[in-house]
Amino acid sequence: MATLDGKTHPFQLFDRWMAEARESEPNDPNAMALATVGPDGMPSLRMVLLKGADERGFVFYSNYQSRKGGELLAHPKAALLFHWKSLRRQIRIEGPVERVGDAEADAYFDSRPRQSRIGAWASRQSRPLEGRLDLEKRVALYAARYAAGRVPRPPYWSGFRVLPTAFEFWRDGAFRLHDRFRYRPEEGSEGGAAGRWCSQRLYP
Ligand SMILES: Cc1cc2nc3c(=O)[nH]c(=O)nc-3n(C[C@H](O)[C@H](O)[C@H](O)COP(=O)(O)O)c2cc1C
Repeated sequence: MATLDGKTHPFQLFDRWMAEARESEPNDPNAMALATVGPDGMPSLRMVLLKGADERGFVFYSNYQSRKGGELLAHPKAALLFHWKSLRRQIRIEGPVERVGDAEADAYFDSRPRQSRIGAWASRQSRPLEGRLDLEKRVALYAARYAAGRVPRPPYWSGFRVLPTAFEFWRDGAFRLHDRFRYRPEEGSEGGAAGRWCSQRLYP
C-alpha cells in the first residue's frame, strides 16, 4: 500500500494509487468526474475515462461539440475527481486545459474498436435526440459510409489535456479522521512532472 505523508511527488503518487486501483476496482478504475464551467459560471459535472497520464498531464477524449466540449473551448479550465470505493480514496486535480494534438488524437482514435469509431460519427453528443431509432439510423448511415477501410477521426472529436496546478490526495481514516494532502507547485516552479511541488496537510 502506498503511503500518504505528503513527501511523494504528486505525479508519482497518482501513478501508484492508479496502479493499486487497477488491482482492486471491479471496473473502470480510470473513470473520473470532470467539472467544467458554463458561460454563466454554473459548474457542470460528468464522468469521463482517463486515457493518458504522463508528465504532460491527464487526457480524456470527447466530442468538442458536446456540452463539456463547448464549455472547455470557451473556458479552458477543469477539475477532475477520482474516487475509488474499493480503496476508500479520492484524488482531486485542477488546472488549465489544452487540446490534444491531431496526431495524438488520431493514434488514440485508431486504437478504438471499429464500432466505437462509427459511434463517434453517429452521436451528436449532448444534443436532443427524438428517439433511439434516429441514433440507430445514423449508426447504419456511417457504418455504410465507412464499410471498408479506415474510419477517420471526426473533426469534432478529440482529446483535452488537463495540466495540473493542484492535486489533493484523500485517504479514509477511522471515525472520519481522514488524511488529506493538498499539493501546489513550489514558488518559482511551474509544477508538472519535472517541477517541484510542496504539500500541505489539511484538516479532514
Ligand atoms: C464511467 C463513464 C465513463 C464515461 N467516459 C466518457 C468519455 O471518456 N468521454 C465522453 O465523452 N463521455 C463519457 N461518458 C459519458 C459522459 O458522462 C457524458 O454523459 C457525455 O460525455 C455528455 O456529457 P456533456 O453533455 O456534459 O458533454 C462516460 C460516462 C460514464 C458513466
